[in-house]
Amino acid sequence: MTGKPNEYLDNFNPIVSLAKRRGFIFQASEIYGGVGSTWDYGPLGVELKRNIKEAWWNSMVHSRDDIVGLDSAIIQNPKVWEASGHIEGFSDPLVECKDCHQRFRADHVDLDQCPSCGAKGRFTPPRQFNLMFKTFLGPVENESNIAYLRPETAQGIFTNFENVRVSSRKKLPFGIAQIGKSFRNEITPGNFIFRTREFEQMEMEYFVNPDQGSESLEYWKNERLAWYIDLGMLPERLRLREHEGDELAHYAKAVFDIEYLFPMGWSELEGIAYRGDFDLRQHQEHSGKKLEYFDNETDSRFIPHVVEPASGVDRSLLAFLVDAYEEEEVNDQKRVFLKLDPRLAPFKVAVLPLSKNSDLIGKARIVYDLIKADRLTDFDDTQSIGKRYRRQDEIGTPVCVTIDFDTVEKDDSVTLRDRDTMEQIRVPIADLRSELANRF
Ligand code: GAP
Repeated sequence: MTGKPNEYLDNFNPIVSLAKRRGFIFQASEIYGGVGSTWDYGPLGVELKRNIKEAWWNSMVHSRDDIVGLDSAIIQNPKVWEASGHIEGFSDPLVECKDCHQRFRADHVDLDQCPSCGAKGRFTPPRQFNLMFKTFLGPVENESNIAYLRPETAQGIFTNFENVRVSSRKKLPFGIAQIGKSFRNEITPGNFIFRTREFEQMEMEYFVNPDQGSESLEYWKNERLAWYIDLGMLPERLRLREHEGDELAHYAKAVFDIEYLFPMGWSELEGIAYRGDFDLRQHQEHSGKKLEYFDNETDSRFIPHVVEPASGVDRSLLAFLVDAYEEEEVNDQKRVFLKLDPRLAPFKVAVLPLSKNSDLIGKARIVYDLIKADRLTDFDDTQSIGKRYRRQDEIGTPVCVTIDFDTVEKDDSVTLRDRDTMEQIRVPIADLRSELANRF
């Protein structure tokens, strides 16, 4: 499929600098020179991230009666990772340049020439490198105390299948959803927050009768694609791509990726996998605990099949930022704005007194107090009004409310400015709450 990338972004640089300038994302440990492609979320980034997670949780858990939530531990019994196949098989092929000793993922590099020092034919043969982070439980660092940071949240769901089923009295089909941190010692992290070693996942395991697996896969493919579009992503920058042949993960019967057209090209945003009964069967065998389901209607016993939509919070956030980024010429000046869906925007409204006049600031405070309980609102009385509008545009605030001299001297009304059209209308303060409620 030929998509249409964001014409204003050849690379991530404008997004990286906006994210830092406005307080969305900072390099972790920046004052020490950073650390291995990890990132911290600033005051606005944390709001955007929370809004994405809330939108996902609403659509997957709160708005449905067939899916419940879970928050399982990052550190599990190492036998979990034996059963899941991660100790044996969760690895990428690694090569090292014999001249400059840089390491690369063999499938991400031209093996004829080192991209770092240019040496030809100097790579070591590929060896499998396990991506799980190892640590030790307790004070003694020996083999028997090895533990792993989870590389996916999914396994905590499978090991709790029976606990959740019994305690929530769910019948098939039903799902268990979880949002949380995962860790992978990626050989080549990069592209800003696209691939990092510490990241957050939003995963849901949907348990079905084995003969409903394919139908459920179809359902979740459509449902998940629609989620991104409903939150404002342009459909022409999204596509579904099926995994073929040896690309299929060891646990999967079929996988479809939802891909987004990032500046570096089509790349995975979310994986939707039909995992069959692989995980529950493995855990049943390795733990010795029955993980079968008894179906009253058909009077049969079986291990449920699973369809799994697995998305990344950070990767979704990056895609929402890229998708929302717009530039235009206004009075010979470049205007940058983030056309974020109001549900995702960190601030929904900003209250701005036109100048530092104390009457205007006093009135603006009254307006701010009137509306701030309804939705997250910013108050800004620094700098010139032009600079403040530019800031609110860049952080994606859908509506600015400006208090001017007419507000205090004449009409007790304020100016509402729309982020996308820059259209301004006058609204009496008495009608402000209902006007804003209509817009959101
Ligand atoms: N439980 C299945 C699973 O983990 P995955 O395709 O490896 O599947 C799901 O991961 C999603 O998690 C990816 O589509 C991506 O959004 C996110 N993700 C995976 N590895 C990541 C990394 N190193 N950095 C950021 N996000 C990552």
